[in-house]
Amino acid sequence: MAKSHVKMTINGKPVEALVEPRTLLIHFLREQLGLTGPHIGCETTHCGACTVDLDGKSVKACTIFAVQADGGEMLTIEGMANPDGSLHVLQETFREHHGLQCGYCTPGMITRAHRLLQENKDPSESEIRHGIAGNLCRCTGYQNIVKAIQAAAAKLNGREFKEAAE
Ligand code: FES
Ligand code: FES
Repeated sequence: MAKSHVKMTINGKPVEALVEPRTLLIHFLREQLGLTGPHIGCETTHCGACTVDLDGKSVKACTIFAVQADGGEMLTIEGMANPDGSLHVLQETFREHHGLQCGYCTPGMITRAHRLLQENKDPSESEIRHGIAGNLCRCTGYQNIVKAIQAAAAKLNGREFKEAAE
């Protein structure tokens, strides 16, 4: 199949490549670019394990062709850590609050949470749950993911995070 030339910025770096029009963005990222953090958990666009940030939106990379991201600006989990190598606040709070177990959903979950906190700087618990409804997790039961996102929001808003009594 004839290949198309695409150019985009991924995690701050310019990328140019030839891709088949049918190549899904998730396969382009994982197989052509070696960015294997975003995962594939379904074939029906439910799980969100493939979530990346594209032009300021959370996008399920399994449901967009790589050619559609031509000219775009993308962030994947690999680009989340700070330039000095320290963890992004969300990566840190997911670790602190045990927001992951197998880790398979985590790249998509954190990338989504990152965009969520830009859409809503101080979300309530129900807004967080609703905000990550496109991301499934088999392991955590979500509770600690919610806490991790609340803790990140508190840090970003210069507040101390207090866990609600259970
Ligand atoms: S792999 Fe499940 S939504 Fe993309
Ligand atoms: S940590 Fe295993 S699927 Fe979420």
